[in-house]
Order: sequence, then structure tokens, then C-alpha cells
Amino acid sequence: MTTAPTHVTPAAPAPATLPAAAPERAASASAADAGRLRSTRLNGRIGAVIEGVRLGGGLDTETVATIRAQLLAHKVVFFREQHHLDEAEHEAFAKLLGTPVAHPTVPSGDGRYSLRIDSDHGGRANQWHTDVTFVPAYPAFSILRAQVLPPYGGNTLWSNTAAAYAELSEPLRTLADSLRALHSNEYDYAAIKPDANDAQLDQYHQVFISTTFTTEHPVVRVHPESGERALLLGNFVQRIRGVSSKDSRLLIELFQHHIERPENTVRWQWQVGDVAIWDNRATQHYGVDDSGDHPRKLRRITVDGDIAVGVDGRPSVLISPADVPEPPYGSPSGASTAATSPSSDRPEATG
Ligand SMILES: [Fe+2]
Repeated sequence: MTTAPTHVTPAAPAPATLPAAAPERAASASAADAGRLRSTRLNGRIGAVIEGVRLGGGLDTETVATIRAQLLAHKVVFFREQHHLDEAEHEAFAKLLGTPVAHPTVPSGDGRYSLRIDSDHGGRANQWHTDVTFVPAYPAFSILRAQVLPPYGGNTLWSNTAAAYAELSEPLRTLADSLRALHSNEYDYAAIKPDANDAQLDQYHQVFISTTFTTEHPVVRVHPESGERALLLGNFVQRIRGVSSKDSRLLIELFQHHIERPENTVRWQWQVGDVAIWDNRATQHYGVDDSGDHPRKLRRITVDGDIAVGVDGRPSVLISPADVPEPPYGSPSGASTAATSPSSDRPEATG
């Protein structure tokens, strides 16, 4: 083990409106096993590349703590040249960040937790979204590994939803703080993807919405680790509660516009062997579908999250289904853990 200092690029100096908790935590990270670990920011608001780490289940506690701190500070971190990872080692590393969880409806690729994100299996996520927000305790972290890439295109964008909240004017932050929204995995797929092929439509109808989930979330979530406030929207949002459908569309567009502003985003050009890890509680992401029919295959493992909580302390609530099917493998999903909430806590599904 070397005693050389860890080279950790300090997190972004927080703009006046950005809470400083997470950046301070990252900046205090000290020498992890590796004095080899280097973290380099990619821009002012989101993203860092971490070098000098071989990801896997054998990483020491201090290195894992440094990676986690960098992840909380920069929202998404990237690692190159992780060719040694297979499904088992990918999962072993995920366990160092939390408890891996299966997708609530989509079977994994390995019978355990590894989800196939394949261009030929409907895996073209070219809508801004946060993973699995149709359940109350959606994943805290997603870990994505690139296996097969197209000769061009296929980049992924991430947005910092805490920065998007922080840049809002005070009246808009107050408004967002007060709103609740319904999220569901059942949305108008054909309207969003009018050029979808039969395989994509089959995947959506037979698998993705084999069980329909609906969850009420706050529009602003308080991050359980950093205390930061972040907008919670994305393509699973159906509508804002308590306002007309037109006002709902306008409000979603208003806040989502800030999430998609280029200043809040980072774009990653994948190489085979790359790993991206993002804080799913403070980001949205978008897979750019610009590679034609060239294959693109990635593997994703998610780590369990907490039930989201709003600024007023109210938690997210599962509206439906009444009986949550257990995932095919492993721990309960972020839906089934929330299904134990007293039914009297559940708001009406309409209104
Ligand atoms: Fe995703």
C-alpha cells in the first residue's frame, strides 16, 4: 500500500444558492488505499472522472468511502478501463455501496440483479428520467457498465437535479416545495416513441408494464445523505396533483426545463470497459439514440434507496398496486418495502 496522498479534485465551489454539505464532505476525503486515486471534475456542476481504481468487491473501506463522497458531490462519476468486471464482480462492487435490487418488472440478464440495457431489447432510454421513480423507494445508485458500443453516437447525458432546483428563483423554489406528483411506469409509449418497432412495443407491454405501479412523490426531494433539495420529475411523471391537467403540463415543463439546461448536464462518450455510477436521487439521465441499428449493450445494477421525503417531511406513497409482486430475485424492490405503509396514509388516487 502506498502512502502517497490521494489526489481528489475539490468539488465545485458551491454557488450561493447551492447547499454546501455534499461538496464539503467530498473535499474532506483523505488518502484512501490508493494514493493512486485521482478525481477530476468534468465541468462546473456535474460529473467527475476517477482514475487509479480497479472496481470490484475487494476494494478497501476507505477507497469506497472516497468514491461515495465523490459520487455525492459530483452526482455522476466515471471510470475507464474496467474490462475485468463481469456480472459477479459488478454485483460484488455494488454491494459495497448498498443492497442490490432487482427491477420491479423487468427480468435481469443473469437471473440476479444485472439488467440488460440493450439497443435490441427496447433499451433506448432517450427520455430524460430518473431510474424507477414509479416506486417510492427507487434506487439510490445505478452502476452502468459498457460491453458493446456502436461505432458512433450512443452517448449518455446526466443532469444535476439539485443544481436545477438551486438555480430556481425563490418564488419558484417555494412553489416546487409545495407540489406532489404522480409517477407511473404506464405512460403513452407510442406517443413518446412513434417510430418504435414491434420488439420495443412488446418489451413495453409484456414486460415493462406487466405490473402497473403508481407512486406519489414530492416534486422536491430532500436528499437523505447530503440534505440537498433536488427536483424529482422525469418521464415517469404523469401529472402534478391538485391542479388542472393543463397547469400540470406547464408546471412540469417549467421545472423540467431547468433540469435539461446544458449548464446542469454532462455528456459521456462511452468506451468499452467504462463504468458510470450516478446518484439516482439527485440526477436525471438520457441515452442519446443516434446510432442507427448498431448494437449497444450495457449492464446496469441498482442499489436500494430510501422512500423519498419532501421538504415538509411527507414521504412518498405507493398508490397502486394493492398487492405488490415480489421481484424474481433477491431483496424486495422499492415498491414492496413501501407497501407496508398504513393504507390510511395513502391519498386518494384521483384529485
Ligand atoms: Fe435509466
